[in-house]
Amino acid sequence: MKYVHGYAARESRRLVDQATTLADILHSDTVYPAGSYVLEAGCGVGAQTIILARNSPNANFTAVDLSKESLRAAKERVSSKGFTNVTFHQSDIFHMPYDDNSFDHLFLCFVLEHLPNPIEALLCLRRVLKRGGTITVIEGDHGSTYFHPESPGARKTIQCLVDIQAEMGGNSLVGRQLYPLLKKSEYIDIRVSPRMIYVDSSKPDLVEGFTKNTFIAMVEGVKEQAMRSRLMEEEEWDQGIRDLYRTTGENGTFIYTFFKGKALK
Ligand SMILES: C[S@@+](CC[C@H](N)C(=O)[O-])C[C@H]1O[C@@H](n2cnc3c(N)ncnc32)[C@H](O)[C@@H]1O
Repeated sequence: MKYVHGYAARESRRLVDQATTLADILHSDTVYPAGSYVLEAGCGVGAQTIILARNSPNANFTAVDLSKESLRAAKERVSSKGFTNVTFHQSDIFHMPYDDNSFDHLFLCFVLEHLPNPIEALLCLRRVLKRGGTITVIEGDHGSTYFHPESPGARKTIQCLVDIQAEMGGNSLVGRQLYPLLKKSEYIDIRVSPRMIYVDSSKPDLVEGFTKNTFIAMVEGVKEQAMRSRLMEEEEWDQGIRDLYRTTGENGTFIYTFFKGKALK
């Protein structure tokens, strides 16, 4: 599968940094009851899985992903932390081998943004969810990014990521669409809450974990594709990235909004 961020080691580290830094803001209100069966779709290297398993130690998680390699890393990560409440399966969201109505809850994070057909994915997931069960979807929206000092060059590098992801059939502006996507996929009682991350130099953990190692790392990850597609000249790109790093300086600020949707079947 082609996926804008790829599966390289740096990307695995980025996904883990992202999940760890954002754990409170994204996960603190997701706790599943003891004994419930929860499907995590597109678990990747298990960055969210360990947080789910820790926050709901008595729920049973099934974590699926297309990538064998990511699943191997996820398995290792979860067992190294001593969690025994997760089983892993290699499976495609669009062809899951599970019976109708077989899970109490569904969870997915940063998956819809990579799919050309998010409604179809949400419908496939809905099939395996019990009536009255919940779906929780977390997505970013790169259009929600703003920062100081302002820089048109930095904005251009971010736009490259948006364009390249779109070219690959994804949508990095999907956060703002969670409500209509869930609605069109026939979920009910939909609630979407924006989760804003505000970073300045008084929060060194967020400067490192979010601005540098999550966001800028993600933009830097598409340099090669941006050069190949001639979206920017290399010099202009490098300056744009330097400008993004200026937002992590003493007087810089960086703001981004994630969206968390919860709904029922
Ligand atoms: C950005 S990663 C997010 C991983 C994890 N949820 C996280 O937040 O760290 C997206 C993941 O979705 C997986 N994926 C994409 N399409 C899929 C599909 N059709 N079925 C299962 N997994 C899929 C990819 O393999 C990748 O691991």
